[in-house]
Amino acid sequence: MTDPHATAERILRRFARDTNLLIAGRPIRVSAEAEDTATALAVAGMARALGARLVEDDATGPDVLDIEIDGDNAALSLGGAPLAPRGDAAGRLDFARAHMPVSNALATEIREAGTVRGLRIGVSMTLEPKTANLALLLADAGADVAVYAHPDETDPAVAQALRERGVPVDADPDLSGTAEREAALAWLRRGFDVVVDDGSHLVRLAHEAAPELIEGWIGVTEETTSGLTPLRALHAAGLLRTPVVAVNDAATKTGFDNRYGTGQSCVLAIADLIEHVDATVRDLPVLVIGYGPVGVGVAAHLTALGAHVSVAEIDPLRALLATHDGYEVGRAEDLAHGALVVSCTGVAGTVTRELLELAGIVAVAGGVPGEVDLDESSLQPVVVAGAPVPHLDVDVERGTLVLDRGGCINVTAAEGNPIEIMDLSFATQLAAIRSLVEERPGIGVHALPDDAVGHVAATAAHVRGVALDAAPASSAADADWRSRRYRDIDA
Ligand SMILES: NC(=O)c1ccc[n+]([C@@H]2O[C@H](COP(=O)([O-])OP(=O)(O)OC[C@H]3O[C@@H](n4cnc5c(N)ncnc54)[C@H](O)[C@@H]3O)[C@@H](O)[C@H]2O)c1
Repeated sequence: MTDPHATAERILRRFARDTNLLIAGRPIRVSAEAEDTATALAVAGMARALGARLVEDDATGPDVLDIEIDGDNAALSLGGAPLAPRGDAAGRLDFARAHMPVSNALATEIREAGTVRGLRIGVSMTLEPKTANLALLLADAGADVAVYAHPDETDPAVAQALRERGVPVDADPDLSGTAEREAALAWLRRGFDVVVDDGSHLVRLAHEAAPELIEGWIGVTEETTSGLTPLRALHAAGLLRTPVVAVNDAATKTGFDNRYGTGQSCVLAIADLIEHVDATVRDLPVLVIGYGPVGVGVAAHLTALGAHVSVAEIDPLRALLATHDGYEVGRAEDLAHGALVVSCTGVAGTVTRELLELAGIVAVAGGVPGEVDLDESSLQPVVVAGAPVPHLDVDVERGTLVLDRGGCINVTAAEGNPIEIMDLSFATQLAAIRSLVEERPGIGVHALPDDAVGHVAATAAHVRGVALDAAPASSAADADWRSRRYRDIDA
């Protein structure tokens, strides 16, 4: 019989891969005959470590995942029905939509308020089923939506399904170099009121090459950390020409997307890939570089799979946090030897040539170009059973496995973050678009106001059936600011 932990990992990875759904927070029930008890215990333990909630026999509901262990395999059911394939791109789009109730609720409010009716909204993001749904929700709310996706970040079948539902999509996976830049500029020339960007690539291109196009913009909503850093630099240099809402920084985005979403999707994508060369994260030392929210999530998910994780950080506060989470913290060059090294910094040049030489396997969860200082000329595809394994190369000079040629592993080698995570992120995007259109902030990089973030959280708690405790009724004592400790008892 196979190692129960290996079986557990494979079963949970299969669920995540087949559905693109989140394990953290999911009610899970594991059952098995007596002879499979060890595997059942391993699945339950690993699911719990990944954030799932183990439920009793009588628990029901559409989110309940049933895992019925059968030797080295398992039958999976969701909401009482056997897990069925999602089908073609249209099917994957509909499946994602059905698991995006928070974005649906926010979009309904926007539609009823007429917030985006008639506005031209450009969405520039990795094009997969969740993003397609964001575009469709905005179109349903009355906006005139156009989508752009980078050639490396396009699922052509999803692009076609979106076109068939009436949204123009500029996404040609065959473009590169100048032609690709021209295509991006042509998309910007469509003219927009609001641009929804991810990595601020299109917004920066407009500032560099076509600033006249920015004149009429109401503003930009930016999805991610690595997109906000250059926009802040642009503003500091006095060159930013548009208001920006920092969607990434809202707690309903960073606290879930960067932390749980990236953790699950990057770690499971890595495990899926290295399985082709019979490696598992449990058998390798693992070094996580960067302990921001993404590093926290990646380290936690690797640990849940049984990996021995250490952390390298340049920021003392984040380094201290890592020690309190139980990780060995040190210099990357001391910890990288033979390790699976995962860069979670979003900073170019993080994995230097020296680290590449020391590491056994290198992967990127951050995702800026050049995060690994690659020697492209010495990369060769890994061949298993006579065929090259997609997204898996070996640096022949250094003997290091390089995953996805240093690209953002969950985006290019998998289906991106889990659906429920993007549901929250896109609900936050919708709140940011509403805030931008209604409040019209000036040029600058603005936080999404607390009440808007609170509204997304309250909506999510409501539609996901998370009961909130009742706050005690406020009493006159709450309004009395005087110290109770030093009360003047003689007065
Ligand atoms: N893959 C995805 O789906 C996904 C999702 C969300 C965010 N991201 C990206 O992941 C990256 C990280 O996001 P975050 O929110 O955690 O960012 P962050 O900036 O909060 O954290 C990055 C951390 O890396 C540390 N760091 C930087 N350079 C380092 C070095 N050379 N050695 C050691 N530590 C170093 C920083 O001190 C910081 O603590 C960003 O680029 C972000 O855009 C990816």
